[in-house]
Amino acid sequence: MSEELTKQEQIVCEFKYLSNPEKFCRVSESIKFNSTHEIESALKSGKILNRINIDEIKPELSGMHSNLVELAEINMQYLAQKETVHLHQIKGFQIEHNGKVFKAIYKPASGEDNKTTTQLGIHDCYLREVAAYQLDNILKFGIVPPTVIKEDKDDIGSLQLYVEEKTAENHIIMSNQVDFEKESSGKDWQLMAVFDYIMANWDRKPENWLVDKRDNSILYAIDHGFSFYSRYLNVDSVICGPRRTLTYNNKERKSIRTPLPDFIIERLMWVKESKIDKINKVLTPLVPEFEIEQLLIRIDKLLETKILIKSISID
Ligand SMILES: Nc1ncnc2c1ncn2[C@@H]1O[C@H](COP(=O)(O)OP(=O)(O)OP(=O)(O)O)[C@@H](O)[C@H]1O
Ligand SMILES: [Mg+2]
Repeated sequence: MSEELTKQEQIVCEFKYLSNPEKFCRVSESIKFNSTHEIESALKSGKILNRINIDEIKPELSGMHSNLVELAEINMQYLAQKETVHLHQIKGFQIEHNGKVFKAIYKPASGEDNKTTTQLGIHDCYLREVAAYQLDNILKFGIVPPTVIKEDKDDIGSLQLYVEEKTAENHIIMSNQVDFEKESSGKDWQLMAVFDYIMANWDRKPENWLVDKRDNSILYAIDHGFSFYSRYLNVDSVICGPRRTLTYNNKERKSIRTPLPDFIIERLMWVKESKIDKINKVLTPLVPEFEIEQLLIRIDKLLETKILIKSISID
């Protein structure tokens, strides 16, 4: 076989996600999307039937969040473009989706806590939620559920697909029964650590990742309202993995240096070579310019040091 990739193969490489986004598509028994693009369409065009404060559904989370988080029911109202490819001919037709209801998480701008945002100097958390999804999409990591900007009544906010999950808290309880250290150092966990470093996420904790019900090694990274916040991040000293993971058994609290896996180095090189313009274009309307500059510096830093974790364990 020729060493050189054919154009078709290059395209396939270009679009391969590191964590398969197929996991977002199986929403329920009756709803299955064909792609994350289709989920975005459904989130954008669907009507919000109702919004309920998440505390009413998950009382155990009450008082834990600073911003308002709502569970929304979305009525699917969109046209999916289905393509059938014939020899030398592409035939497209549209399918109307109507009437089915699915869940999403709404975070309205009006629900953002003024005190926290003023104290921390972070504004427009909902735009950061969308920026995180867009960045994940450009990196082709595939760990953030589809998230869009959504207007509803007098509100504007972020709307993210709700994933039926099993939370990390359960996982920690389970850690007596399973080799949690082994499980939590898999591919998705490494992706999440790198993702958090790149976008300066200060808020990764067990409530802010979800573990797939069907497969413990599959992760969903959520809650990125306090990301793109470089103010106190020293690029030289802190590459902080998700709390209680990767460094979970770091009882001595010594700094650990883990080589950056090859598949992440390759991906970041590809981003550096061909995606910088896209990062600038997509993120500019969503986060401050300074944050994009810092993010690009951190990608360079990762490629220079090729180290995943340098921080101490912060259980
Ligand atoms: N996409 C999602 N799918 C399933 N559950 C979710 C999703 N997003 C949020 N949740 C649930 O809602 C909880 C609260 O949401 P989130 O962590 O995003 O905000 P928060 O930490 O409460 O608020 P904030 O960080 O804005 O102050 C999560 O811990 C999780 O249980
Ligand atoms: Mg949270």
